[in-house]
Amino acid sequence: MGYDYRIGDCRELFKTVPDGSVRLVVTSPPYNIGKPYGTYKDKIALNDWQELISDVTREVHRILTPDGSFFLNLSPVPLGDSREIMPLPFLGYQILKANGFCLRNMITWTFNNMQNCTNRLSGRYENILWGVKDIDHYVFNLDEVRVPYISKNDKRLEGGSGRNPTDVWYFDRVNNMTKKKLNLSHPTVYPLPMIVRIIKMSSHPGDTVLDPFAGSGTSLIAAKILGRSGIGFELDAKYENEYKRRMETEGLIPAGVFDELKDDREKSEAFQKALSAVLMDPKKPR
Ligand SMILES: C[S@@+](CC[C@H](N)C(=O)[O-])C[C@H]1O[C@@H](n2cnc3c(N)ncnc32)[C@H](O)[C@@H]1O
Repeated sequence: MGYDYRIGDCRELFKTVPDGSVRLVVTSPPYNIGKPYGTYKDKIALNDWQELISDVTREVHRILTPDGSFFLNLSPVPLGDSREIMPLPFLGYQILKANGFCLRNMITWTFNNMQNCTNRLSGRYENILWGVKDIDHYVFNLDEVRVPYISKNDKRLEGGSGRNPTDVWYFDRVNNMTKKKLNLSHPTVYPLPMIVRIIKMSSHPGDTVLDPFAGSGTSLIAAKILGRSGIGFELDAKYENEYKRRMETEGLIPAGVFDELKDDREKSEAFQKALSAVLMDPKKPR
C-alpha cells in the first residue's frame, strides 16, 4: 500500500492523477465560515467557493473508476455577516449533478458536542452527499457496515447479521480534549470511525482512496487501517507533521477495533483503549 500526502492546491495536484484510477474520494472542504486554517482564507465570495467545489468535483469525476463514489461532506452554515443560514448541501447537490454524478444517498451525520445558540435552534447535523458515476453500478459493501439490531423485529425484517446503518449516522465530533491528547492543531478533524465506515462501504482492500482537502489526514489514516492506498492534497504545509504523526500512531490501530457490530459503548471503549495503546507505544507490533 502507498500513502501520498502532497502539499499544494488540489486543483493543480489533481492533474497528476490518471483518469479512472481512484475508487473512492471522500472529503470535507472548507465551509466558507472563517475557520483559521492558515494559508487558506475561509471567507470568500460565495461564487468563488462554488467555483472551487465545481473545479474539484469535475476532477473527481475524471479520476474515479466507472463504479467509483464521491462522498462530499457539507453543512448548513451562517452566510457571511448576514447571519442567514445557507444550506451548502443544496449547492453541493447542484454541483454534483452538473458534473455528471447521480446522488445515491444524502446522509445526515448528527452529533451532540457542538456549541449552543441562543437566537435560533442549535445546529446538530451535517450532510454527506454520496454521488456515484453510474447509478446501476457502484461499490456498496453492505455486509461490511451492518450495525447491531435495535429490536427483534429488525432481525426478522433484515435477516443476516445486523441491520442496514440507514442514512442517519451518529458520530461524535472530535472534541478539544481528544485533539489535545493527539496533539492536533487542525481546527476541523474528521471523526475517524465515520471515515472508516465510508471506506469499508464503498471500496475494496487494495483500492485507492483520495481526499483533496486532506487537513490532518484522517482519510489516509482510515485507508491505512483498512488496507487501502491513500492520496491526500493539502494547501497548508503546517499540517503535514500532524498527518505523519497520526499515521505512525492512529494508523496502527487494528481494523477490528472499528467493528460496526459492537454496540456504541463497546465501540468507544475499544477505540479509546486502542488509541491509548498506540500513543503509549507506537512501535509495538499489533
Ligand atoms: C475541513 S478541512 C479538512 C479536515 C480533514 N477532513 C481532517 O480530518 O483533518 C479543509 C482543509 O482544506 C484545505 N484547503 C483549502 N483549500 C485547499 C485547496 N485549494 N487545495 C488543498 N487543500 C485546501 C484547508 O487548509 C483545510 O485544511
